Amino acid sequence: MSYTKRILVTGGAGFIGSHLVRLLVQSYPDYLIFNIDKLTYAGNLENLKDIESAPNYRFERIDILDADAVNQLVHHMDFHAIVHLAAESHVDRSIHDPLAFVHTNVLGTINLLNAARDAWKEDMSNRLFYHISTDEVYGSLGSTGLFTESTAYDPRSPYSSSKAASDHFVRAWHHTYGMPVVISNCSNNYGPNQFPEKLIPLFIHNIRHRKPLPVYGDGQYTRDWLYVVDHAKAIDAILHRGRIGETYNIGGFNEWKNMDLIQLMCRLLDEKLGRPEGDSASLITYVTDRPGHDRRYAIDASKINSELGWSPSVTFEQGLSLTLDWYLNHQDWLDNVTSGAYQHYYDIQYKNRF
Ligand code: NAD
Ligand code: TYD
Repeated sequence: MSYTKRILVTGGAGFIGSHLVRLLVQSYPDYLIFNIDKLTYAGNLENLKDIESAPNYRFERIDILDADAVNQLVHHMDFHAIVHLAAESHVDRSIHDPLAFVHTNVLGTINLLNAARDAWKEDMSNRLFYHISTDEVYGSLGSTGLFTESTAYDPRSPYSSSKAASDHFVRAWHHTYGMPVVISNCSNNYGPNQFPEKLIPLFIHNIRHRKPLPVYGDGQYTRDWLYVVDHAKAIDAILHRGRIGETYNIGGFNEWKNMDLIQLMCRLLDEKLGRPEGDSASLITYVTDRPGHDRRYAIDASKINSELGWSPSVTFEQGLSLTLDWYLNHQDWLDNVTSGAYQHYYDIQYKNRF
């Protein structure tokens, strides 16, 4: 079959990538969706089991640091668009091993940009390099204000610095070589298939196993939370209708102080697990803070709303309930990803913190 578009998704076996791949494969049977992923600890083909044999889906295990493999694929497949999500994505890991983040997030992105530039050199019209980034590049807010698309970059962790650097390189390829690019910067995602190192799935996992809930610092840090499927829908809108050279902020208009969110999760899980009220909250344990911990992130998502008509489709109450149910019903998925190297990570990350 000949496809109307061939789209490369990088990092499609990860948390957000797998939701995006599913959405694109199911919504556009006339597109070929080609997923490449190194399958690090965070990449899991189980996330895509339901669509792995769809006729318009392909997967290849490729490390984006392997410039030859990336070049060969991008030349051979003649993609119309590259949606780039592959990254090292966890702030705490970036504090232990910053160089891994520079390698994948910065050099890996440059490899993809180089491959696209070379493969598309005859004619860049009708091509798109879409880079998926984070609100963390804007730094940390005080108790008021929102990040807009014109907020100056002020990254403060190795993770956010590597993402900021990659955003700058993507813009440099646009200005210097005329590469058609678009970038979106999204707030904290939550939902099914998120690796249990990030706050929400980690705490679900610990509550389930009655393990301490490690709250960093005073627990008054604030994040804006967006259901992952709504992020995938925003990416779909930008992929098709975003303006070249533009940046779009994506957020849930849904700010929570960590401790309020943790108390809510404890209450909902007590109900769902049939435990007495207050049972899960008794696991809350204040621990040593994350070094350089950003105080507050909050996104102004009015541009994508007014230009592209996107807004979140589920409320936080709906999304969180769906998420808790998913983890409770997919104990096998959690057991699978928390076996092996996970325990080593957990010991190193939380040792000496309690
Ligand atoms: P994730 O860690 O769950 O998935 C990352 C994926 O990239 C994994 O499948 C991994 O195997 C793959 N990968 C890592 N290194 C690779 C390499 N060298 N070559 C090929 N594949 C590689 O991350 P996520 O939460 O799904 O985030 C995806 C993207 O969205 C990232 O770019 C991240 O910065 C961005 N983002 C995430 C959030 C969030 O809340 N999770 C918010 C905004 C933006
Ligand atoms: P996280 O999910 O790691 O996302 P990010 O740091 O990229 O926003 O963390 C969300 C918030 O939860 C952040 O303020 C750090 C805090 N947190 C804890 O208090 N304890 C934990 O064990 C983790 C992983 C995070």
